[in-house]
Amino acid sequence: MLAIDGGDPIRRSPWPTYDKGAVHVHPDDEEAAIRAIRSHLYFRYDYRPEQETECGRFEAELCDYFGTRHALAVSSGTTAIALSIMAAGIPPGSLIACQGFTFVASPSAITLAGCRPLLVEVDQNLQLDVEDLRRRWSPEVKAILVVHMRGFAADMEAITRFATEVGVPVFEDAVPAMGAELHGRKLGTFGLAGAFSTQSDKSLNCGEGGFLVTDDSTLFARAVVLSGAYEGRVRRHFPDGLPPIGTDLDLPLLSFRMDEIRAALLRSELARLPSRLELFRRNYAYVSGELADVPGIRIRRPVEPGACLGEAFIFRVGGGLAEWFARALCCEGIDARNLGSGADTNVRVFWNWRFLFGDRTVPEIKALLPATSRYLEDAVDVPLSSSLTLEDCDHLIAAVRKIASRVGP
Ligand SMILES: Cc1ncc(COP(=O)(O)O)c(C=O)c1O
Repeated sequence: MLAIDGGDPIRRSPWPTYDKGAVHVHPDDEEAAIRAIRSHLYFRYDYRPEQETECGRFEAELCDYFGTRHALAVSSGTTAIALSIMAAGIPPGSLIACQGFTFVASPSAITLAGCRPLLVEVDQNLQLDVEDLRRRWSPEVKAILVVHMRGFAADMEAITRFATEVGVPVFEDAVPAMGAELHGRKLGTFGLAGAFSTQSDKSLNCGEGGFLVTDDSTLFARAVVLSGAYEGRVRRHFPDGLPPIGTDLDLPLLSFRMDEIRAALLRSELARLPSRLELFRRNYAYVSGELADVPGIRIRRPVEPGACLGEAFIFRVGGGLAEWFARALCCEGIDARNLGSGADTNVRVFWNWRFLFGDRTVPEIKALLPATSRYLEDAVDVPLSSSLTLEDCDHLIAAVRKIASRVGP
């Protein structure tokens, strides 16, 4: 009998997630942070040359990792996105296209940059729908913010082709996807700039933080100033020449900097990132492979095999049963959410972003993106921590099979 109907659950121990402390932090990482604390040098711009600071070293290591010309460590993923948009000179008031399935931070970052989100449908695999983007296009749209949501690579080939056709830049919200690749290229390096978070559950985790990567030196210099590099400190980021901007008071300084303690922790974690990515990959491949043929569920498909981080297992269940399926999984001891549940104000679904819609009702808002609404209402989302053991994965597999057998084909 299903646990939701009073049967025995598949597991009784909590499903490992970051908010219960299931994070990938090694004693070496703790030591690195403690060394930074003991140094008493917490501000990134002190008397030391850039290459001797934790932030400066972290940025150099990010450039090596991504193969980009520049990297800037900042205070969050949201500020990394907003800084990219502002530093690219997108005029305030412009529309920026953005998908209707993303964390609320994406439209919030557009708003923070003084612009307005133009929401676009996602397809059945919850990816930005380029044909819908084409239908909604207007000359007021000055950029595209594409999100590699829940670690799944967006179709960057189709999106960059369209962006080139209409002549606007693409920004990547690669916050949930650090380390994932598409066609052998790291997500975050396809657009004009890529933004990442180092908040609690990301590939690198220091509680709060983020960074952006770009090859565009002017965008980078402007982002450095905007992030709060005052009184000529932007020059430290250009040791081989002058920054390609006017004075650093042509722009507001917003104090979105990173600090030395977090940068020290992140540097240590970055050194071990490949082993963490391998765990994500192993767990995702195992779970999705074992559940591939289960009748009644449709697993979210990546745009090419392996083009996802593996931090989330998402599938759709038809017949209005997704909310029940997610609750049944929780009863079996697996954390799961129906993304479009009416009983849960999930910030990843557009109809809950009330700040964009004034007095409109939820049905009115859902009617703006009917396909996205339907797909999210059918979607079940299970977090896959890199700390999951194969036994944990077996519990998930058994629980999905057990519940799906009641749903039928
Ligand atoms: C897709 C996406 N974009 C942006 C953010 C915001 O990152 P931060 O919390 O570091 O501002 C998040 C946070 O989880 C996210 O999932």
